[in-house]
Amino acid sequence: MIRKGGSNWVDGENFFDRKTDLEALEERVREGTHTLLTAQRRMGKTSLVRELQRRLAGTGEFEVVFVDLEAATNPADAIAEISVQAKSVRAAWDRIKTGFANLVRSAGGRIEELSVADLRVKLRAGIDAGNWPQRGDAIFAALAESGRPVVLAIDELPILVNRLLKDEAGRVTPEGKREADAFLSWLRKAGQAHRDRLTLILSGSVSLEPLLEQAGLSAQANIFSPYDLKPWSEETAVDCLEALAGSYEIGLTPEVRREMCRRLRCCIPHHVQMFFVRMHDHLRRADRTVATMEDAEQVYLHDLLSVRGQMDLEHYEGRLETVLGRAGYPIALEMLTETAVKGRLDGDTVKRYRAHFASDMEDATPTVEDVLHVLEHDGYLERSDGGYRFVSGLLEDWWRGRHGGNFESAVGAQRRGPGADR
Ligand SMILES: Nc1ncnc2c1ncn2[C@@H]1O[C@H](COP(=O)(O)OP(=O)(O)O)[C@@H](O)[C@H]1O
Ligand SMILES: [Mg+2]
Repeated sequence: MIRKGGSNWVDGENFFDRKTDLEALEERVREGTHTLLTAQRRMGKTSLVRELQRRLAGTGEFEVVFVDLEAATNPADAIAEISVQAKSVRAAWDRIKTGFANLVRSAGGRIEELSVADLRVKLRAGIDAGNWPQRGDAIFAALAESGRPVVLAIDELPILVNRLLKDEAGRVTPEGKREADAFLSWLRKAGQAHRDRLTLILSGSVSLEPLLEQAGLSAQANIFSPYDLKPWSEETAVDCLEALAGSYEIGLTPEVRREMCRRLRCCIPHHVQMFFVRMHDHLRRADRTVATMEDAEQVYLHDLLSVRGQMDLEHYEGRLETVLGRAGYPIALEMLTETAVKGRLDGDTVKRYRAHFASDMEDATPTVEDVLHVLEHDGYLERSDGGYRFVSGLLEDWWRGRHGGNFESAVGAQRRGPGADR
């Protein structure tokens, strides 16, 4: 029985469909192909990888390790995190821990009693800016020789790369570039060295490719074969809503379910789940169990797009700010608002933005091209008729509501030039 999804990843019974994606990724793992899993936020990347690993571990043929680098600020942190998560592979862990003299010395026979947090701190103390590549090599070797083939998932790697590359204003620095280059080329070599015993799956909530392009490091990702995770089809989303309605014993007719999906336009699993959660709350408040078409409209306009509904969507802005930095974010803000307010961003307007933002920006800040690249890659905008439009109806409506109020385009209006009648 499927339960409602919150904001964290889901697996097992709560994981809906994604059959072809699971099959494709399993095939890659069995063939020893390293994967770069890309998709915009909330598409279900983490859930997909977790569920894949759960199933593969269940066959008894594979060992699985899941590493989240969200909190890592440098390569040494990343290696410490991989080490601590490798604990789930017994044979490898026995070798890894003896490699850390400081750990053995301080914890002695009580290593196994340490909490993950303590272990992380102690492992980290044995890794520094000079020895992380050797430490990393030793851990990969231990994993590769653990008996069963290992599926090593590294989530949020792009966040780390972004942190390494850029200063606070979001500019790529020469030093940052050197450090990111060193880490990625180490990862690439390690991945190649153990190809048949260890498969890597990289993923993250911002795209790696535009980052690497910006820094001229694209070649570092070429051992990873990209896999683009798509939104659910309307059919799948409608089926998921039916399954959820069944679990919570509420009535959603096919017509209502289709209307919900039509509103979203792009069926990002998290948005489908959010819509269901709000609908369920709405019916409960109204003391009813069957939803009407009006309910679908009401919940969309007043709950999903409400202040409370926005909490989930604010993450989107946060991530954009992270990737584009203080210099690039205002450009994105302006262009997204223009697109939401006008319904599209046409080619001429893009040209005007190019001229506008080129004039008063220093070097090394993201260009309009860089920003558009990120917006397209991260699933905000898609090309249409020589211009751009929002992919998701929900995101578009929300963005308009939040930023569109007193919006005056910086470039959209010749009307505001001299002689304009205002
Ligand atoms: N296969 C799925 N079945 C049901 N819900 C899903 C599925 N994939 C994603 N979701 C919903 O989307 C949310 C975000 O999923 P997550 O895996 O964290 O996405 P990402 O890692 O791409 O940001 C989950 O909390 C869940 O509500
Ligand atoms: Mg995730």
